[in-house]
Amino acid sequence: MEFKRHILITGGAGFIGSHVVRLFVNKYPEYHIINLDRLTYAGNLANLKDIENQPNYTFVKADICDYEKMQEIMQQYRVDGIIHLAAESHVDRSIKDPFTFARTNVMGTLSLLQAAKVYWESLPEKYEGKRFYHISTDEVYGALKMTHPEGIQPPFTTTASSETHHLAYGEEFFLETTKYNPHSPYSASKASSDHFVRAFHDTYGMPTIVTNCSNNYGPYQFPEKLIPLFINNIRHRKPLPVYGKGENVRDWLYVEDHARAIDIIFHHGKIAETYNIGGFNEWKNIDIIKVVIKTVDRLLGRKEGEDMDLITYVTDRPGHDMRYAIDSTKLQRELGWEPSLQFEEGIEKTVRWYLDNQEWMDNVTSGDYQKYYENMYKNR
Ligand code: NAD
Ligand code: TYD
Repeated sequence: MEFKRHILITGGAGFIGSHVVRLFVNKYPEYHIINLDRLTYAGNLANLKDIENQPNYTFVKADICDYEKMQEIMQQYRVDGIIHLAAESHVDRSIKDPFTFARTNVMGTLSLLQAAKVYWESLPEKYEGKRFYHISTDEVYGALKMTHPEGIQPPFTTTASSETHHLAYGEEFFLETTKYNPHSPYSASKASSDHFVRAFHDTYGMPTIVTNCSNNYGPYQFPEKLIPLFINNIRHRKPLPVYGKGENVRDWLYVEDHARAIDIIFHHGKIAETYNIGGFNEWKNIDIIKVVIKTVDRLLGRKEGEDMDLITYVTDRPGHDMRYAIDSTKLQRELGWEPSLQFEEGIEKTVRWYLDNQEWMDNVTSGDYQKYYENMYKNR
């Protein structure tokens, strides 16, 4: 079959990437979707079992830092669109091992950019019809002040529809024009990669787009991140390590809403633009944790709230950003995207998924799947 487009999705075996790959493979049978992933601890092909045999799907195990391999892949698959999600993504790991973050997030992104540039510039039509879409985070903007610890109701300075707003813990939001001010090695590496992507547009005319999204939650998230880690710990009645006072605020978006935004922006976003993606859904960590405890207890048939005593306050994360809050008005106004799920519904779906997929959780927490992949790819 002759495909209409050849789209390379990097990091497709990870949390958000697997939702993006699934959406594109199912929605666009006329596109060839090439999922390129190194399968680090965070990459898991079991996340894509339901689509792995689709005729428009190909998996390639490769490291984005391997520049020659990236050049080879561009040519072999005649790639005309790239959605770049591959990254080291966990702040706590970046504090322990910043080099790995600089390697993958900065050098890896640069290697992918350069491979795309060399390939696309070698074609008669050059950059026409091409797109390099880089997925970034709101963490590059740094931290907002928590001027209203009790929370304030809409309307705020943002012009997005007020029904989509939850409480806000300050008047300021991250805009596309907010100055970069990263604090963690993770966010510093993502900021650096964002700059490289924009530099490739400004210098070489590469058709790039960058989006900065808030915290995602939902199925297939590696259980080092707050929500899946805590769901699993509550189930096994293990302590819940709350950093500092649990007062830090994050803006949470259901992962399928992010994948849907990526689809819209990939197809209709303006070249060289930045779009912020977020749910207007700010929560203090401790409040989220209470909702998660109650939901897990209820779904497991325990007394609602009986696991509250698992909450254990521990030493704060160094450089812990106080508040993130995205203003996604531009995306809503220009491209018509809005989050589809209210948080209560999303968290219920999420908790239910982790409880129903205990095997997935046991697998990724036991390390067996790592060994499986090591054996499987040992000779390649
Ligand atoms: P994840 O850690 O779950 O997945 C990352 C994927 O990248 C894994 O499959 C991993 O194997 C792969 N990978 C890592 N290094 C690689 C390399 N050198 N070569 C090829 N593949 C490699 O991450 P995620 O949470 O799905 O995040 C995906 C992207 O979205 C990242 O760029 C992240 O910065 C960004 N983001 C994440 C969030 C969030 O809340 N999770 C929010 C905003 C933006
Ligand atoms: P996390 O899921 O690591 O995402 P990020 O740091 O990228 O926002 O953490 C979400 C919030 O939860 C963050 O403020 C740190 C906090 N947290 C804890 O309190 N305990 C934990 O064990 C983890 C993993 C996170």
